[in-house]
Amino acid sequence: MNTPIVEASEIVKNYQKETTTIPVLRSVCLRMVKGEFLAIMGASGSGKSTLLNIIGCLDRPTTGSYLLDGVDVLKSSDDQLSRMRSRYLGFVFQTFNLISNLTVFENIELPFLYHTINQKEISERVHTAIEQVGLSDRINHRPAELSGGEMQRVSIARALAIQPKLILADEPTGNLDSLNSREIMLLFKRLHNQGGTIILVTHDPQVASYADSCVTISDGQIIGESL
Ligand SMILES: Nc1ncnc2c1ncn2[C@@H]1O[C@H](COP(=O)(O)OP(=O)(O)O)[C@@H](O)[C@H]1O
Ligand SMILES: [Mg+2]
Repeated sequence: MNTPIVEASEIVKNYQKETTTIPVLRSVCLRMVKGEFLAIMGASGSGKSTLLNIIGCLDRPTTGSYLLDGVDVLKSSDDQLSRMRSRYLGFVFQTFNLISNLTVFENIELPFLYHTINQKEISERVHTAIEQVGLSDRINHRPAELSGGEMQRVSIARALAIQPKLILADEPTGNLDSLNSREIMLLFKRLHNQGGTIILVTHDPQVASYADSCVTISDGQIIGESL
């Protein structure tokens, strides 16, 4: 289980605002193997989401090199990257990003719009994912009929249904109270124990403590690593 999934070297990300260059990531190197549960911790504005978006192929670095599961992301076209995202990556966000007029089942089914899997297989995958997060009895509910913790569990099921190689979670407990945060983190831990590979971004050391390893980012640079 020492196969690398993320191999990012000297990642630089600058934003250009008129004539000023704003450096956001300054030579970040990150390596992660399959089966790892890694936390990226840092204060607000330190560059965590920018780094996660690059790892998740939602954004490209200004310079540097990045291999995702052996694929050179910088040499891939936008079409190739969106295919990688929809097949291999499961995203979980602070704000859940569920569609309010769709049921739980329909929300979890959405990522399959870009797949060529048949409806029977999709239905089986959705049911398995909803069972994994313990919400089988809410499958026909709409998001407004769920608690915050339940909504986040649905968004985790949506990420799981495609059977991703890597789960990327950006402040997944940011909108939850402490009890629900704990439940969500125990769920991530269980998914990791079942073989899942997870990157979690958080500003909260308590949340980061559920991961196996942690890197700390400050002002766009990795300043510490702990196992
Ligand atoms: N599109 C953008 N244009 C200019 N600056 C940006 C943009 N996105 C993020 N930034 C800046 O980059 C820095 C890091 O942002 P971000 O990665 O969102 O931090 P974090 O997730 O750690 O709070 C912040 O100072 C932010 O203002
Ligand atoms: Mg952020």
